[in-house]
Amino acid sequence: MITDTHKTTAKSLFGEVAVNRTDMPLFVNKTKFIEAIQQFKEQDNLSKLRFVVLDLQSNLNSVKDDKIGILNIHSNGDTVKISQKHLLEQLDQIADSQTLERAKYYTERLEKAMTEIRNNKINDINLNRWKEYEDIWTDSLWMIDKRDSTGVHTAGYWGNFIPQIPNQMLRRYTKKGEWVLDPFVGCGTTLIESQRLGRNGIGIELQESVAKRAKELIGSEQNKHSVVAEVVTGDSTELDYAEMLRKMGQKSVQMVIMHPPYFDIIKFSKNPRDLSNTPSVESFLNKMNMVVERAGKILDKGRYLVLVIGDKFSRGEWIPLGFLTMQEILKKGFMLKSIIVKNFEETTGKRNQKELWRYRAMVGGFYIFKHEYIFLFKK
Ligand SMILES: C[S@@+](CC[C@H](N)C(=O)[O-])C[C@H]1O[C@@H](n2cnc3c(N)ncnc32)[C@H](O)[C@@H]1O
Repeated sequence: MITDTHKTTAKSLFGEVAVNRTDMPLFVNKTKFIEAIQQFKEQDNLSKLRFVVLDLQSNLNSVKDDKIGILNIHSNGDTVKISQKHLLEQLDQIADSQTLERAKYYTERLEKAMTEIRNNKINDINLNRWKEYEDIWTDSLWMIDKRDSTGVHTAGYWGNFIPQIPNQMLRRYTKKGEWVLDPFVGCGTTLIESQRLGRNGIGIELQESVAKRAKELIGSEQNKHSVVAEVVTGDSTELDYAEMLRKMGQKSVQMVIMHPPYFDIIKFSKNPRDLSNTPSVESFLNKMNMVVERAGKILDKGRYLVLVIGDKFSRGEWIPLGFLTMQEILKKGFMLKSIIVKNFEETTGKRNQKELWRYRAMVGGFYIFKHEYIFLFKK
């Protein structure tokens, strides 16, 4: 989120009126604000309306400029938190209207945004204020230059995904207090994010030492929403998911995030149950089938399953592991909602051998992997 202050000028209608616009939140007294915008509806011509809007904007500029106490927290606590930049932009839109009817329409929309919450069933996003969610991504190409390394997040586990993936998915497809399952939890990235965001999480991990590390990391992250983050050591192709949930007093989950090994690209252990040790692509897909079968049964209808996976290159041939696994999930009756292509962070090994890989690509007639997929399915 951009937090730096920048000066901008109010629209040319008013000449050069400098207004500080920041992403910092304003705490607006709701009653006073609604009273102020009621005056917009009472104006009988656009010039008068524009002056009333500008007057309100100047009060919102800073506490020092606020002559009507609109930035005073209401004694009954009825205060709305909103970014100054967004609020001023919505007021600009009213002032810039070409007709009084249009200005009235935008005024009513702003009134709703300040007084009513409109949610859908699968997240906590207030659709009446959708413009403010600038950090929720809605494009299918994700170019991420830096992993989130705040708190206990660490790049230390070879093959973990960047925290931005579960963060985006959890905010978009779950509500606070709901449950998410990650059948390949690794060092716990999904559960660290779910705990931060106030969602309950269950993760399954085959390797005891990795599960232990995940528990330590999650345990050292603040749990300010007092949610559950449970790591179960076991084989996600065989575990009884319903029984696992029953032990936690649950019958279902509201989201599944799966980040399996990309077949044998990275060997996670020597354990034959490890999906990175499956002898062929077919047996990898069979195993994935078993996980999806189990996860699908405990996922609520209408909710989302996320698969994060990349492709493989073997003996001169591109193996579309992502699309093959996607196909298995579709066969189970899931609906494909999106395919997101995400840039792939170079592993340290590859970075050091950049030239060698370029040479190999030229000789072998192939392209070097720079992307992986996030497949999004709805049950
Ligand atoms: C790609 S990593 C997941 C990393 C995770 N997203 C993170 O950020 O730490 C895949 C994980 O699946 C685990 N795994 C492999 N086969 C498994 C199985 N049959 N059951 C449970 N976990 C398994 C591996 O040990 C590895 O930790």
